[in-house]
Formats: sequence, C-alpha cells, structure tokens
Amino acid sequence: MDFSIWTEKYRPKILKEVIDQKHVVERLKSFVKESKIPHMIFAGPPGTGKTCCAIAIAREIFGKNWKQNFQETNASDMRGIDVIRTRVKNFSRIKPIGGSFKIIFLDEADALTSEAQNALRRLMEMYSDVTRFILSCNYSSRIISPIQSRAVVFRFKTLSEENVFEYIKRIVSGEKLKIDKEALEAIYLISGGDLRKATNILQASAIMRKKITKNTIYEVTAQAEPKEVMDMMNHALNGKFIDSRKILKDLLLKRGISGQDIIKEISNQLYRLDIPDKEKIGLVERVGEFEFRLNQGGNEQLQLEALLAQFSLYKK
Ligand SMILES: Nc1ncnc2c1ncn2[C@@H]1O[C@H](COP(=O)(O)OP(=O)(O)OP(=O)(O)O)[C@@H](O)[C@H]1O
Ligand SMILES: [Mg+2]
Repeated sequence: MDFSIWTEKYRPKILKEVIDQKHVVERLKSFVKESKIPHMIFAGPPGTGKTCCAIAIAREIFGKNWKQNFQETNASDMRGIDVIRTRVKNFSRIKPIGGSFKIIFLDEADALTSEAQNALRRLMEMYSDVTRFILSCNYSSRIISPIQSRAVVFRFKTLSEENVFEYIKRIVSGEKLKIDKEALEAIYLISGGDLRKATNILQASAIMRKKITKNTIYEVTAQAEPKEVMDMMNHALNGKFIDSRKILKDLLLKRGISGQDIIKEISNQLYRLDIPDKEKIGLVERVGEFEFRLNQGGNEQLQLEALLAQFSLYKK
C-alpha cells in the first residue's frame, strides 16, 4: 500500500497542468516567459489552485533552485505581526540565488491583522527590488487597500463538474482504481468544486474499497444522499410517516450521519419538492425552527421526527 498523500502527489508541477482558471493561467504564463512578476493577490475559494499556481510559477522561473527562492508561510498559523517582522522580513532581505528576485507566498493572508498587513506593506516597499509577494486569500476585500493597490489581483473560480471529473480521473488512472459515473457525480456534489476535498474523499474511499461506487462515497463522508433525503421528505408529505421515519432512523442510527447534516440536506432539497411555493415557504420556516432547536442541543431523532410530522401537514 502506498501511503503518499494524494493532494501532494497529484499537485500540478507546471502551469500547463493546472485545470481551468484559464484567465489566470494565461497571464501567469506570460509573466513566466519574461521571468518577471508583479506582487500578486490570488483570491478565491479553497481547493481551486491558488497554492498550485504559486508553486508552479516558482518552479518554472527558478528551475532547480526554486526551493531556495520560494518561501511559503501560512498566515493563519501565526496571525501575529511577529512572523512578518521575523520570518518574512528575514527572507525578504536576502539575495536571490541565481535570479533577480525571490517569491514569498503568504497563504491565508486575509487572516492577518491589519497591523500585520501594514508591516507587510512596508516590506513590500522596502524589498521589492529582490522580493515579490504572492498573497493568497478567500476574499481580496479583507486585504488592506494599500496592499491591493500595489498588487495585481487574480480571481480563482470554483471548479465545474467537468473540471472535477478531469482531475479525479487523473488520480483514478494513476492509482489504477475503479470508479463509476455515479460515484464521480457524488464526489463532485459533496466537494462543491473544491479539488482538495474531492481528492481526500477519493483517497478515503480507495482505502475502504477497490471498486468505488456512490455508496462508498456516501459511507466514507457520512453524508446523506440527496435522493434518500428527498424520498424521506416525499413520504412524509404523502402521509407515509412510517416509511419516512424508517429512512430517518437508517441515516441517523445505522449510518451515523449527524442531525445537522440531515437538516442541511433537507434545506438543500426543499425547493425541489413538488408543492406550491407558498407551502415551501411555510416549510422553510419550519426547517429553520428545527435547525435552531437542534443547535440548542435538542434530541436529534425526536426533533427530526417532529419536523417530518410537520411535513405531513402540507400534504398535497
Ligand atoms: N485548478 C487546479 N488544477 C489542478 N489541481 C488543482 C487545482 N485546484 C486545486 N487542485 C488540487 O487540489 C489540491 C489543493 O490545491 P491548492 O493547494 O492549490 O488549493 P488552494 O486554492 O491553495 O486552496 P486554499 O485556499 O485552501 O489554500 C491540490 O492537491 C491540487 O493538486
Ligand atoms: Mg492554498
């Protein structure tokens, strides 16, 4: 058994291997061609390639010296100003090896306090002849404007179903796995376009089964399948309370899915129910109420059963 971590093993090494993010990658390629980059902010949701792109640029520009010319710091581990004044500052000052600049990559830069961001801004001014900064964040609006105005902002977008399939298939063929279409779709649904999450789900499933199906995916992620939750709601709506309750008990007791996750899936699926909008709104209110009770520590099974009983009041 191979114990390598797939999120690292399959991380793209060059820009060409990055999936989608075309608007970003094209411009980065032109920087690489000139061996010149500006300060940059990579903004976007988790698992969409921000770190990948930063590392790929460093590899392409610096070649075998890339590690000496690239420093990665996760700002959220040490949100304080000290890390900026010590670790980041020390690296900013030193001379690049075999090139004209080095890259400092600050992951989760939006977790830095504004004091720390100001210190960072001063480093950007002082050492910009030998250092380029790449800041990664979920929201660029959390970066102070003096930094924003010194940097080029790149927006990464959530990856599509097709993109997720393409990436998962790379791993599937690399690891010689067997996976069916439904399982791929389930991975996409649960990952929401986050490739790190998708990869972790795949690796966890592969440890459990050689042949991966939809059931494996829902088992390892302890998630309710959308269809099951839909069936549960429809039975309740149609007055088939016993059937509805059976699905609920299965999810909670046999599969160990949390009440919170079930109620989340109920709200995801609610708008698909075949009932008039006015009734849906009534149900949305009910669901909100029961979610609150669960958060207050109400018994999961009792609360969810009571919620399902409410559904039957909206019978067609
Ligand atoms: N566009 C992409 N192309 C190829 N692989 C990707 C892409 N986006 C993410 N991945 C894969 O997903 C994992 C996480 O990617 P990465 O570290 O770049 O995410 P990130 O955008 O920096 O996320 P975070 O905001 O959480 O730091 C890696 O294993 C990487 O291989
Ligand atoms: Mg990252």
